[in-house]
Amino acid sequence: MNNWASGYVADIDYTAGFYEHMTPVKLAFALLTKGFSAPDIIRPYTYCELGCGHGVTVNVMGAANPQGDFWATDFNPSQIANARKLASAACLDNVHFFDSSFGEFNSADLPQFDFITLHGIWTWVSEENRREIVTFIRDRLKVGGVVYVSYNALPGWAPILPLRRLLTDHAPAGGEPTLTRIRNAIDFADSIRNAGALFFQENPAAAERIEDLKTSTPKYLAHEYFPEGFDPAYHADVARDFSEAKLRYVCPADVIQQIDALNMDGAQIELLSKFENPVQRETVRDYLLNTRFRRDIFVKGPLALNEDEARERWMGTRFAMKVDRSEAPTKIKGPLGDVELHPEVYGPVLDALARGPQTVAQLLEDPAIASLGLARLQQALTVLVGSRPIDPCLDAENDSLRIARARDFNTAALRQAQSNKTPAWLACPVTGSGLSVEGVLQLFLLARRLGRDDLIEYAWGEMSLRGAKLLKEGVAIESDADNLAEMRVSVERFLKNPLPVFQQLGLS
Ligand SMILES: C[S@@+](CC[C@H](N)C(=O)[O-])C[C@H]1O[C@@H](n2cnc3c(N)ncnc32)[C@H](O)[C@@H]1O
Repeated sequence: MNNWASGYVADIDYTAGFYEHMTPVKLAFALLTKGFSAPDIIRPYTYCELGCGHGVTVNVMGAANPQGDFWATDFNPSQIANARKLASAACLDNVHFFDSSFGEFNSADLPQFDFITLHGIWTWVSEENRREIVTFIRDRLKVGGVVYVSYNALPGWAPILPLRRLLTDHAPAGGEPTLTRIRNAIDFADSIRNAGALFFQENPAAAERIEDLKTSTPKYLAHEYFPEGFDPAYHADVARDFSEAKLRYVCPADVIQQIDALNMDGAQIELLSKFENPVQRETVRDYLLNTRFRRDIFVKGPLALNEDEARERWMGTRFAMKVDRSEAPTKIKGPLGDVELHPEVYGPVLDALARGPQTVAQLLEDPAIASLGLARLQQALTVLVGSRPIDPCLDAENDSLRIARARDFNTAALRQAQSNKTPAWLACPVTGSGLSVEGVLQLFLLARRLGRDDLIEYAWGEMSLRGAKLLKEGVAIESDADNLAEMRVSVERFLKNPLPVFQQLGLS
């Protein structure tokens, strides 16, 4: 074990990912849907991520939000080296990466923060680290500042805890490399289940989890199950710990969770309405929904908006489509099964946004939308943000400035993704968020970035250099002629979808 890691997995880097719920725009929108104020994200602000992994989220946010100043730490130096590599290739000057532990970071020369976020940290690190995080937030968060914290939650994790114990007891830390420990431990747990263990028969969620383990990447498993501090938490305990930093729980970062009718039946909603204490309410909700994972927003001194302020903010909030109109969902999956998105409500909103980003005030100029009334429109927009086809946006006035800033980052991210053969997370200057682009689409975007009209020639030239082939139904196409024919089909598809969406988002 590395002595700087204090029980955390350090011999395997974590998977690299972008987490949209952590963006200032999404956090501000979640607070608005609950009627609360957020730090101003149009003017300069400060943002800090604790345990940033490879720094993908911070890099993308930095490129898409030049008005923000982004600070981040992760004590794993190879992950920070990776984060800095992309930041420097893209010449980002508003992101600052450190390889400090949470405790060390608090002694660094840092500003006070408007946002502090931690994703996949709280229930994976030791009690001592959790205390350091609370101290950091207490010392470093401004009044009115926002904290995002995600964690493995109880009671949903309860039946999985004995499975995790089986895995880690069988493969104690030290000795073998983590990857070997993981493989052996999963086989061992599977053999216990196959022997007809009553534990797995009486806890089917644990038996199903073994199947998930077999198909998950070892990097993910190493960090999800094997840190020594691993300890799923009740919301009430997290709220108590954070109250020491003067924080109050306000709402879930995942706005779909705020719409009770999508998540619970009438009797459950009625039961929940009897609890006025928000912590008790959340606890009851977690039992009703058997919650396994939470994304909570806490605020230091939450400020409720009055009716006029809330209305004004809603009217000025702009939304954009992230997918082609034809791909917008017609129903969403909830704990109660599929819920239909009524076309008479959602159709006009999606049709209007498919023409380009619009504020609520602009949407209401359409008679079909105005007839819904502001409250139904707000709910429809919240559902559409929560179910992914649309995103809240930054101000239109600064689009062109942000588009120019994001361009170099996106070129660097596309180039890096091409050499690493990974998806590229691009900075979206209209929404202040990120968007993933894979495969040959990366080359089409690069060709356009270089001002090339011959997308096919460029993409095929790059692929030939790397000896790469296109895939059809998962199988590599062999001959050059067949690859070029398939490429022509791909370009035609790209020009119709998703290029127009990318253009509306300021990506091409
Ligand atoms: C499960 S990963 C999550 C990474 C990232 N937030 C994400 O979701 O992709 C936990 C991260 O916390 C970092 N970490 C764990 N303990 C830490 C500590 N005491 N100080 C700083 N970073 C720590 C690890 O190196 C790892 O990258």
